[in-house]
Amino acid sequence: MVDQAGISALGIAIPDTAIKLSDLAEIRQVDSAKYQIGLECDEMAICTDSIDTVELATKAAQKALSRYHGSIDDIGLIVVATETAKDMSRPFSSWIQEKLNLKGALRSYEVKHACLGGTIAIKQASECVLSGAASGKAALVIATDQSLYTPKSPAEPTQGAGAVAFIIDEHAAIARIEKQSWSWSEPVYDFWRPIGHNYPLVDGPLSLECYKKAALKCFTQMMATQQYSAKALFKHFKAICFHSPFSKMVYKAFAELCTSFDFSENETKAFYHSHVEPFLKFNKKIGNAYTASLWISVAHALHDLKTNEHIAAFSYGSGFGAELLNFTKMSDSEDIGWVEDIQDHIAHRRTYLSQEAYIALRGC
Ligand code: HMG
Repeated sequence: MVDQAGISALGIAIPDTAIKLSDLAEIRQVDSAKYQIGLECDEMAICTDSIDTVELATKAAQKALSRYHGSIDDIGLIVVATETAKDMSRPFSSWIQEKLNLKGALRSYEVKHACLGGTIAIKQASECVLSGAASGKAALVIATDQSLYTPKSPAEPTQGAGAVAFIIDEHAAIARIEKQSWSWSEPVYDFWRPIGHNYPLVDGPLSLECYKKAALKCFTQMMATQQYSAKALFKHFKAICFHSPFSKMVYKAFAELCTSFDFSENETKAFYHSHVEPFLKFNKKIGNAYTASLWISVAHALHDLKTNEHIAAFSYGSGFGAELLNFTKMSDSEDIGWVEDIQDHIAHRRTYLSQEAYIALRGC
């Protein structure tokens, strides 16, 4: 048995192309305040012909490997979580292996459970390390997705794209993944994509209710087993990260949790501004990257927090399944350049699609 498992390296990749939600609002003749205030979305990243989810995953993995104190020969497991599957049989991880020239004595597979997939992959990798089954080897876990909805549907402003790669091993140089987590699952049709459909089918209002219920169930279990009071929860965790389909969803779920704790509206807003919102900055610029969305927020928190501070991470995947994980930041001395990568990318390398180019890309 191994004492701990955790994150020892991290990389993020997002497409160079994006669209401003104010432009999308003009295209669809909607008041832009609906997208920017109603949903709290500013921009969304878009995959074009020059980059797809394989390229995103490969870039994120290469960045993580370049920051890792070991080498590619130390990888004994590669897992890719995605909802942008390429094949019903061949795992998505095979495409990444080809790009990385990764082969030999290792296990390789794909995980699917809507946006929860990345979380399941991370849990499985850390449990594999903890059990000793990894025999000292590391796991490369990648969450990669592009979210696209039917053009002109209410879900269109909540698209996005991105990939996050983690190297998980027993050194846990950046963060320890705490062993206990709290899950909840109910079979529901809130968002699903039947075989052969280009876009998901969505019951938007139901999905919001499922997300809020899942958050309440997971946090309530954690508080009961850890014997936290609501106030102690905010003392223990410096960051509370949520899966972010759009930022307003996170606020809605958080506010419902706080109501169940009997917090006043002012207390709710104060805790949201100190513990949640600071780590949603990139999500508002990237949009919903499905399996990667929560991990973009967690990556931000891992960058900002100090050694021994704690992060709670709530994962929701339609269908539906949810899990609440917690992490302890380990060392500040590791290469934590991923946030600068994203900042630089958004500030300098991003190209905005014109309204005409977006219409041409989507066909209407
Ligand atoms: P909609 O039809 O645009 O909803 O769909 P709406 O009419 O209720 O408007 C949205 C908000 O804008 C409302 O705010 C309006 O008041 C406001 P609220 O009252 O709810 O706080 N609004 C305005 N605000 C300012 N100025 C205005 C204005 N007009 C209206 N002029 C919906 C919204 C989210 C349902 C849609 O975008 C959708 O279906 N999205 C996809 C589903 C989704 O993201 N669900 C989230 C939970 S499920 C999940 O997270 C899993 C997922 O990631 C998939 C996976 O797991 O793989 C999606």
